[in-house]
Amino acid sequence: MKKISTKELLPGMVLASKVVTENLNTILNQGTILDEADIAKLTFYSIYEVDIEDDEIDHIISDASDGQGLTSSERIKRSQEFKEFKQAFETCAKKFEDEINDIVAGNASVDTKRLLAPVYALLQKGRTTSDVFNMLHNLRDYDDATYTHCINVALASNILAQWLKWSDEEIELATMSGLFHDIGKICIPEKIVTKPAKLDPYELDIMRTHPLKGYEVLNKLDISIHVKNAALMHHERCDGTGYPYQTQGPQIDKYAKIVAITDVYDAMTSARYYRKPLCPFIALQNFEDEGLQKYDPEMIICFLQNIVNTYLLSTVQLNTGEVGEIVFINKTFLTKPTIKIGNDYIDLSKCTGVYIKEIL
Ligand SMILES: [Fe+2]
Ligand SMILES: [Fe+2]
Repeated sequence: MKKISTKELLPGMVLASKVVTENLNTILNQGTILDEADIAKLTFYSIYEVDIEDDEIDHIISDASDGQGLTSSERIKRSQEFKEFKQAFETCAKKFEDEINDIVAGNASVDTKRLLAPVYALLQKGRTTSDVFNMLHNLRDYDDATYTHCINVALASNILAQWLKWSDEEIELATMSGLFHDIGKICIPEKIVTKPAKLDPYELDIMRTHPLKGYEVLNKLDISIHVKNAALMHHERCDGTGYPYQTQGPQIDKYAKIVAITDVYDAMTSARYYRKPLCPFIALQNFEDEGLQKYDPEMIICFLQNIVNTYLLSTVQLNTGEVGEIVFINKTFLTKPTIKIGNDYIDLSKCTGVYIKEIL
């Protein structure tokens, strides 16, 4: 048994004795294998040090030694896991680009299993949904090429469908819907799709035909009607403010509803010519500001809650310049967690005008 300061704890370490507060309330039991949430809890209760079983300590510390003193993002980017993910992602985007061009040119029939295989490969190897979200966020600085958006939306739709506890078949349809949702953009002149400035009203009208064009391309293929509907309806909004037909909530296909959320999230968190990638917390705030009634209520709440949980214990920078750790998620104000800065706790829900600017 060894005493280890809470600051030096790593996920995987095992508690050799239970941890109690000053009032003798048990926070964690003996034998607990610590995960990031447990370490956040200890930090939150200002527990200075704990007893750890020493059998595996050296192994765990040596595994993590490359990452000493780095922020959570830097640790992820340096990890072998991330390098493998990045490479698999690039391969996936390239394969998808080739397949899609063949399909649009009428040279190939669609083989859904073959198309989905590289996307599913990114989700495997014991990666949790949070791991994948975190890695996608860290890929932002690297690449924002045309087809990466579709892969991002496919992955995010797959993950959201898992969070919603949909069946395997539904999860596969959600993934497929994400992958194909913007296929109609291939029929829009490239100079409009890639224009590095705001579109003028004429260009915007053309751009807004991509859902219908996508539906027309997919309609010729032997593919689920839900995937076709997702291409047609992913810009519709539940309150009838979307396009092309201002369809309202009950008439919108549920696969279009899932893609509506993941598509907007991806667009907000990707780099754009006029700004750097948005911090996920600012993206979530944008969803709240824009009005959650635009989206399916169950889906949007599930999405926001799970994304916020992904970033528990992450190091963040506030707009005030201060740096701290997210130690407590506020279920009522998801974008305003409690941050531990030094020995202070800042409850963002009580600090008007203070927000998370960046995940470090
Ligand atoms: Fe779109
Ligand atoms: Fe899109």
